[in-house]
Amino acid sequence: MGLFGSETLHSISLKNIRIGSLPGLRALLRGMYRSPAVQSEIMGLSFENPVGMAAGMDKKGSNISNWENVGFGWIEIGGVTFHPQDGNPKPRMFRSGKHSALINRMGFNNPGSEAMAAHLAKLKSKAKWASIPVGINLGKSKNTPNDEADMDYAGTMERLWDFADLFVVNVSSPNTPNLRELQAGSELDRILTACNDVNQRLAKDTGAKQKPILVKISPDLADDQIKVIADTALSLNCSGIVATNTTTSRPAEGGVMNQTGGLSGSPLRARSTEVVRVLYAHTDGKLPIVGVGGISDVESAWEKIAAGASLLQLYSALVFEGPGVMKIINKGLNRKLKEHGYKSLSEAVGHAHRS
Ligand SMILES: Cc1cc2nc3c(=O)[nH]c(=O)nc-3n(C[C@H](O)[C@H](O)[C@H](O)COP(=O)(O)O)c2cc1C
Repeated sequence: MGLFGSETLHSISLKNIRIGSLPGLRALLRGMYRSPAVQSEIMGLSFENPVGMAAGMDKKGSNISNWENVGFGWIEIGGVTFHPQDGNPKPRMFRSGKHSALINRMGFNNPGSEAMAAHLAKLKSKAKWASIPVGINLGKSKNTPNDEADMDYAGTMERLWDFADLFVVNVSSPNTPNLRELQAGSELDRILTACNDVNQRLAKDTGAKQKPILVKISPDLADDQIKVIADTALSLNCSGIVATNTTTSRPAEGGVMNQTGGLSGSPLRARSTEVVRVLYAHTDGKLPIVGVGGISDVESAWEKIAAGASLLQLYSALVFEGPGVMKIINKGLNRKLKEHGYKSLSEAVGHAHRS
């Protein structure tokens, strides 16, 4: 596949995933992935298996009820911004088969929080919802200056609060100018405080529980910066960290690698595992970590769990390996747990730090 057309091919594969929505077939497919050993309870939510769909794959929430049929244990839809936006001009997604990597500069193309709320309400009313946990990825509108970012994130969260089982505050996309500056302690503090206020208020008003709020970080931070973010997250009662987003670094020069944007897939694997390791060590395993970056098989999934991830996500591997990859990973995780004598996934989390 050449340089162009990656985004078009991507929408075709999204349509194929809908095949799994045929009645009967759905229950059959889901049964194939079920195994008690990979189930877990984290952040007050139940996960049938740890493998989640990473943000960006279903930006508009077009396919919410069907992802579980291909074996995902949870999904994160979005990124959604307060205002609707088109994102960057196409082409904006590129693929390197040689490196099993994608480079994207989508720039948060999404319908915006208001349209998204209306769409999600319609899906819920028609019972076209997922039975697995649904996270919503919160981005910042391009036109909102960084010093008003707190209101942008919290405003989107308020509009979408009813629909999410958890929220991810994404301050790490490389494709919105200066977004990653929001990872600095004081900026992040302001954003999380605003989101916490909305969370507390809506929980009180509705009688529901507060929703877990996680922060998604960049692999391009220095380890010291990662530790500061972990401290900020802990001090503001954040529920966890998603590590990591895409990187602006490149494994090689030339061709597709010269495209501007965030790189995902295999070349990201080692650094994102290292970020998980740093986070786990710094927080003594007290802060749940979602490991994401270059997971494409059981070894890369197990590596993230060993480093300290309780949950996983993938995006690029779905493009390169196809939807069979979730089943392969979950079966393999089951096997790994048995081989190591762990009764559950939670026992295995962070084991590299103990051996
Ligand atoms: C086309 C594309 C769009 C993405 N959009 C988002 C997004 O909106 N929000 C976000 O937090 N991450 C986004 N990501 C990053 C992924 O969620 C994930 O962190 C990254 O791809 C690393 O995982 P992978 O190596 O399994 O692909 C996007 C990734 C790709 C390839």
